[in-house]
Amino acid sequence: MDAILVRGGRPLNGQITIAGAKNAALALMPATLLSDEPLTLTNAPRLSDVRTMTTLLRSLGAEVQTLQDGKVLALSSHTLTSTRADYDIVRKMRASNLVLGPLLARAHRAVVSLPGGCAIGARPMDIHVSALEAMGAEIDLKDGYLHANAPGGLKGARVKLRFASVGATENTLMAATLARGTTLIENAAREPEIVDLADCLRAMGAQISGDGTSTIEIQGVARLHAASHRVVADRIELGTYMLAPAIAGGEVECIGGRIHLVEAFVERLDAAGVSVEETAKGLKVARKNGRPHAVDVVTAPYPGFPTDLQAQMMAMLCTAEGQSRLEERIFENRFMHAPELLRMGASLDVQGGVATVRGVDRLKGAPVMATDLRASVSLILAGLAAEGETRVNRVYHLDRGYEQVEAKLGAVGADIERVSDA
Ligand code: EPZ
Repeated sequence: MDAILVRGGRPLNGQITIAGAKNAALALMPATLLSDEPLTLTNAPRLSDVRTMTTLLRSLGAEVQTLQDGKVLALSSHTLTSTRADYDIVRKMRASNLVLGPLLARAHRAVVSLPGGCAIGARPMDIHVSALEAMGAEIDLKDGYLHANAPGGLKGARVKLRFASVGATENTLMAATLARGTTLIENAAREPEIVDLADCLRAMGAQISGDGTSTIEIQGVARLHAASHRVVADRIELGTYMLAPAIAGGEVECIGGRIHLVEAFVERLDAAGVSVEETAKGLKVARKNGRPHAVDVVTAPYPGFPTDLQAQMMAMLCTAEGQSRLEERIFENRFMHAPELLRMGASLDVQGGVATVRGVDRLKGAPVMATDLRASVSLILAGLAAEGETRVNRVYHLDRGYEQVEAKLGAVGADIERVSDA
């Protein structure tokens, strides 16, 4: 099993190119199931989660070709051979549940395994189910699988989501594109990945308006056609690499980053005394003198502070001047990185959904354990500022959402390498 070694204490300088967004690609790929014509995705991220989605789509009869070193995905589901998403694939990646809406819309039936528990929370699918039931689907749970049927197809409906769930918005949005009549999604999620999905569906011939706001309107159409779409930049990868110079010092330009993708996050960085500047190519982040200041953070749905940057932000606050309060409001168990940061000499305590972080002069390198995707990268960031060597174990978590992290950080001067136990 691979591990990553980081030797801290070097300021960073240079450029890092931001890849296409994992959480956009994982919703865009199932959109191919909505049409019997090809869909091409460019600027695709090269990640193990994308490979898992590829395996799932192929198990349903779709063709998926990876071109140009994996940066282009040529998808086609001319003929669906199955409408069953198997537990063996779904348990590896929750986003597999994003085939439910498209399969129901196109084939009028789907059998999708419930993903089961996850390190960061229970993550039920009740909001997805009630939205699709409002559109006329009959959904039963049997042997851990959702059995969904819509004889005669889905019909347009007014759907109010009890929480602005990203996944439920994406499943309902895709399902509504082929439903008879108009669908209104109220309290919809507003994340940039939703807008990216809507842009792609429009390119396929869907009639959608209001994406990016809390109310999305979709006029169902008879069929969707071929299209090509460029995957939006990964705002979570962007935020992660913006925190690298904030923690280690120096100046890094993140190529392909845009402020509108990370406004709430930039506002907190600014409050912490870290400078962020928009350039022609991206975002330049610098921390020249002294440690960052302590700031309070509360996670929220977009446009609020992203929960997927909470762990990385905690790593920076562990090195800040003063005491910070970090509140996690999206997932009930997303502080698994905290005990590992304590092993690195951090000073913090967690009470329920709130962490109190007292910044220390210097973290200390240590062997630590990755528990989930964002926790793993927060430990690497902490290692950049730590004295001595940090060894992050179980980095398979990391490869799900970050391509070539050691190459990207190494290119701006970090002392980092991947080692294998084999
Ligand atoms: C997406 O997950 C992202 N994943 C997550 O990123 C991200 O943390 C999350 O949105 C929030 O921004 C992908 O896009 C693949 P939700 P999703 O439905 O869609 C509860 C990462 O690190 N809920 O918005 O699963 C749920 O339990 C990952 O890249 C229900 O109760 O998130 C959670 O507490 C981690 N019932 C909250 O809503 C439902 O039916 C938000 O979940 C659905 C959700």
